[in-house]
Amino acid sequence: MDTAHDLPSIRSLHGHRAPPCAIVIFGASGDLTKRLLMPALYNLARVRRLADGFAVIGIDRIAWSEEDFRAHFADGVRSFVSDTGENGGVAEAFDPDSWDFLASRMTHIDGDVTDPEIYTRLAKELKEVERQYETRGNVIFYLAVAPSLFGTVVERLAEAGLTRESEGQWRRVIIEKPFGNDLASARALDARILKLLPEAQIYRMDHFLGKETVQNIMVLRFANGIFEPLWNRDHIDHVQITVAETVGVERRAAFYEATGAMRDMVPNHVFQLLSLTAMEPPNSFGADAVRTEKDKVLEAVMPLMGEEARRNVVRGQYTAGIVRGHPVAAYRDENGVAKDSMTETYIAMQLAIDNWRWAGVPFYLRTGKAMTRRTTEIAIEFKRVPFALFRNTPVEALTPNVLAMQIQPDEGTSLQFSAKKPGPEISVGGVRMDFKYRDYFHTEPSTGYETLVYDCMIGDATLFQRADSVEAGWAVVQPVLDLWKSDGGVPLEFYPAGTAGPDAAEGLLAKSGRRWRPIA
Ligand code: BG6
Repeated sequence: MDTAHDLPSIRSLHGHRAPPCAIVIFGASGDLTKRLLMPALYNLARVRRLADGFAVIGIDRIAWSEEDFRAHFADGVRSFVSDTGENGGVAEAFDPDSWDFLASRMTHIDGDVTDPEIYTRLAKELKEVERQYETRGNVIFYLAVAPSLFGTVVERLAEAGLTRESEGQWRRVIIEKPFGNDLASARALDARILKLLPEAQIYRMDHFLGKETVQNIMVLRFANGIFEPLWNRDHIDHVQITVAETVGVERRAAFYEATGAMRDMVPNHVFQLLSLTAMEPPNSFGADAVRTEKDKVLEAVMPLMGEEARRNVVRGQYTAGIVRGHPVAAYRDENGVAKDSMTETYIAMQLAIDNWRWAGVPFYLRTGKAMTRRTTEIAIEFKRVPFALFRNTPVEALTPNVLAMQIQPDEGTSLQFSAKKPGPEISVGGVRMDFKYRDYFHTEPSTGYETLVYDCMIGDATLFQRADSVEAGWAVVQPVLDLWKSDGGVPLEFYPAGTAGPDAAEGLLAKSGRRWRPIA
């Protein structure tokens, strides 16, 4: 059989080095920079995607020596390349040349990012790296700071004239998630930033879009002739989207207590999966064409008002349990969590998309922490055949056709269908065809940030969030957040850590005779 090994991948079509530029990281001493961003830059250096004219300027409050600054990140990169655990790293030898390329182009500024003086120093440093490394005046400002500082940093940059583009020189700002913590704050942040910068200079990050398999949803749908004709209400019974994590709140209680599973995961990551699954074919793979179609999906989601929100949303919180053989404390017993915390660590919801393609097709979404297994999956369950020719097998007992896109881990796609069981009788059983990424492609160790940072360097915003999509995502969940705030009577359902979530979530599907796919 021909394998896909020789086919150029979507990404390799870009195949060029990025243009010369400097990347300025606000919040350089944070976890994100160490665990994801620096390993991503290292990976880009390893595959020779960074221009020789490249430099990194880190900004944070720590007075690092240049040497300590570099050593801190070398550790992060080393532990990434040797991580074969759940977090996606793959064992590969540490490549000292690639690291040296990066480390030799790193500098650091210490100070408070709210202090205008730091921007004067930054302006000087940018001139210096432009001269020394030939970054040609192109700059990415990467905001890996606390969300409450996003607006301030953009304002300070603009006041200092650092976001001004001139002939042949670009300036771009990457803003991390969470973008706002509800609809009003997301709108306010957009308004504040858009006063100073045009949309084209703003790159709102949702790291799920950097995952190969998330990008593959579009390829599966639009590069194959066989799925799209079936991709509608005539043939699809319902869709299930699951983002289950085994990790609990870990050291993020301060953030998580005020955030919860809904804000942390749904309007952003889960809705990315939803909109890529449900969108109409875009006119092209251009940033605006794709983002417009995705945005239309979110705008067509029927808002869950009042009673609807109560009936169609289940929120849960984990109690003590065992996850993958290890005891896990109850959420309320975690450090930094209130003993009577009402923060949800699990959400399940049923949504309807009110448009021509999807009318009447329920979308079931769930995401939670401290669950049985880590899995992110989109499952499309097709309608059953109208009647059974096979006397011994009633229609309801036939295996439904399910196309499951496994986003992580163990990336791949499977199709479940019915087959005749061997033997003299006609008896039908369920079977599955499985495609696993690793069987076809050599996948490089990747954090998922490589694609996104590289795309920003080449000015491709397709995989970044536009203001309208961010706001449309918040608009869908806002009535539910309002209900929780105003009505203390919305129950919090408890589930032991290491399970598939609260029993009440089963009820969401059971009322229409459906069931969640097993997570275990
Ligand atoms: C982050 C959330 O955005 O995404 C975390 O804040 C979550 O709570 C993480 O664990 C999941 O991302 P990934 O790439 O590990 O699936």
